[in-house]
Amino acid sequence: MHQALPRPATARRSTSLQGTARVPGDKSISHRAFMFGGLASGETRITGLLEGEDVMRTGEAMKAMGARIEKNAGEWTIQGVGNGCLLQPEAPLDFGNAGTGSRLTMGLVGTYDMETTFTGDASLSGRPMGRVLDPLRQMGTQVLKASPGDRMPITLRGPKVAAPISYRVPMASAQVKSAVLLAGLNVAGITTVVEPVMTRDHTEKMLKGFGANLSVETDEQGVRHIFIEGQGKLSGQTIAVPGDPSSAGFPLVAALIVPGSDITIENVLMNPTRTGLLLTLQEMGGNIEVLNPRNAGGEDVADLRVRGSDLKGVTVPAERAPSMIDEYPVLAVAAAFAEGETLMQGLEELRVKESDRLAAVARGLEANGIDCTEAETTLTVRGRPGGKGLGGGTVKTHLDHRIAMAFLVLGLATEKPVTIDDSAMIATSFPEFMGLMAGLGAEIEC
Ligand code: S3P
Repeated sequence: MHQALPRPATARRSTSLQGTARVPGDKSISHRAFMFGGLASGETRITGLLEGEDVMRTGEAMKAMGARIEKNAGEWTIQGVGNGCLLQPEAPLDFGNAGTGSRLTMGLVGTYDMETTFTGDASLSGRPMGRVLDPLRQMGTQVLKASPGDRMPITLRGPKVAAPISYRVPMASAQVKSAVLLAGLNVAGITTVVEPVMTRDHTEKMLKGFGANLSVETDEQGVRHIFIEGQGKLSGQTIAVPGDPSSAGFPLVAALIVPGSDITIENVLMNPTRTGLLLTLQEMGGNIEVLNPRNAGGEDVADLRVRGSDLKGVTVPAERAPSMIDEYPVLAVAAAFAEGETLMQGLEELRVKESDRLAAVARGLEANGIDCTEAETTLTVRGRPGGKGLGGGTVKTHLDHRIAMAFLVLGLATEKPVTIDDSAMIATSFPEFMGLMAGLGAEIEC
């Protein structure tokens, strides 16, 4: 587990990456599959689930509140409690490193007349939870305990009778949107979420699939209004989780920057709220072919063939940030090998991820000789095609899996090796990372 001693790792310049790989299941969908399956009446069956530490914590939390969850021969089976029937957990729910698991579960339990305590690791305990607690307070939830700044450990107690609200999400956050919708599931009447900037829509799509009475209207300004009727029945579903596009970003960028590479990543989720990295890399001149586009279980998926490419710098507009919010660390790595300057705008949310990712990326690039400028909400990277003279640094990962993976990818194409101070956190979202990268020919040692 990640509380153990740090495990440094080093990536070295590699010869061309070759082969076919499958990344693990999408993290956002996997969390929701466990949560909604645990809540719905009857049986939910899940294949392709991401078995990362973050998702397993969500599974444990659902078990602590009455769901039965088992794995047999690659398939997960859940017997859910039924909407409105979660049990008060006997012990604090420990979410480890997982922002999504903890924030969505706060919403889920926030309207139950019971006490629930949330704890997490040092990274999660430093992250702002007020963004979820504020709408819950409006619904009648009491925050019995919280560390300064609405941080974990947090104890919630829901009201006897919760009030439905209409809530305009003040930042682009699928977690906040989802927390309010899940709180609305246990409230009589219609809870409304107003979403000015569209974020990943897995909660909406999946809740509908489980039978929730949920509808979405988009007004003339492009603002989404999401309505959910509480206290309806949810019924177990069969879910095939597609490959995580955020995880796919690591081998994808690796293949673009290591000359002569030619890899295929199969079964990647292509939901348009998640494809910002792909679009940006294609604009940079990345040779990425989208093959066999198809629909699987209500989501678009495809295989991606990626070849080593000469990249050029681009401006990534702020409007694109929600569709690639977790991909900026690895985009910055691609930018380090691009001709010219890459300007990334609208990055304010990166400051409150598993680490302050804007600062962590900038320091990691600087430690490896890459010219960059960090501003309050933007990052500019001036690339050096070929990577000559780059590398040789040690990167602080701050308990952040994506910083760890992004900088290992960097070291595959820099002249000198790149070391990260800890690779243990990679298991939170992509436990197969080291094996998958080695299978493609990447030289990474821990
Ligand atoms: C997620 C939403 C995003 C993303 C996170 C997963 C989700 O967080 O960064 O990895 O599954 O809803 P924010 O809601 O903070 O943007």
